[in-house]
Amino acid sequence: RRAAVAARAARAGSLDELRAAVADCTACGLCASRTQTVFMDGTGSRGVVFVGEAPGEQEDRTGVPFVGPAGQLLTDIVTKGMGLHREEVAIANVLKCRPPGNRDPRPEEKAICTPWLERQLELLGARVLIPLGKHASGHLLGTPDASMGSMRGRSHQRPDGTQVIPTYHPA
Ligand code: URA
Ligand code: SF4
Repeated sequence: RRAAVAARAARAGSLDELRAAVADCTACGLCASRTQTVFMDGTGSRGVVFVGEAPGEQEDRTGVPFVGPAGQLLTDIVTKGMGLHREEVAIANVLKCRPPGNRDPRPEEKAICTPWLERQLELLGARVLIPLGKHASGHLLGTPDASMGSMRGRSHQRPDGTQVIPTYHPA
């Protein structure tokens, strides 16, 4: 199923096409409980992409990532901390569908969904990825068991040349 997602993702020639393909994805079990998929907010025009773990209740309801309480803090970090408009960065999640009751995503759900994220980062032309929290950070760095303390506070380079700067989850 991961290969099927990767093939569909590769066929998407634009972010709009990718968003539409994600919207009817049924590749993992999370499709059964979601209200809708949550693809992305913002434009990523600065080359900066924040990556959370998975949509929560309010995100599942609105279709927009980081709109709940954690999202308010993330908006403050972007606007007051970084001096950017929220629309200038891109905000996405590893998982595009909400796990029921906000349980932790299962490894196979992340494995199946990840080709969507990777194509998304490619189409965005992302240069700096800021994973939020231990789960997203470990996932993007390929070190799922690493502690936050060992990952944050520095920039890591991925094989594709993008920089990864792990930070705490705003929740
Ligand atoms: N937490 C996340 O990791 N992602 C969201 O979209 C909202 C809360
Ligand atoms: Fe598809 Fe990802 Fe949603 Fe699973 S979580 S149904 S792989 S979009």
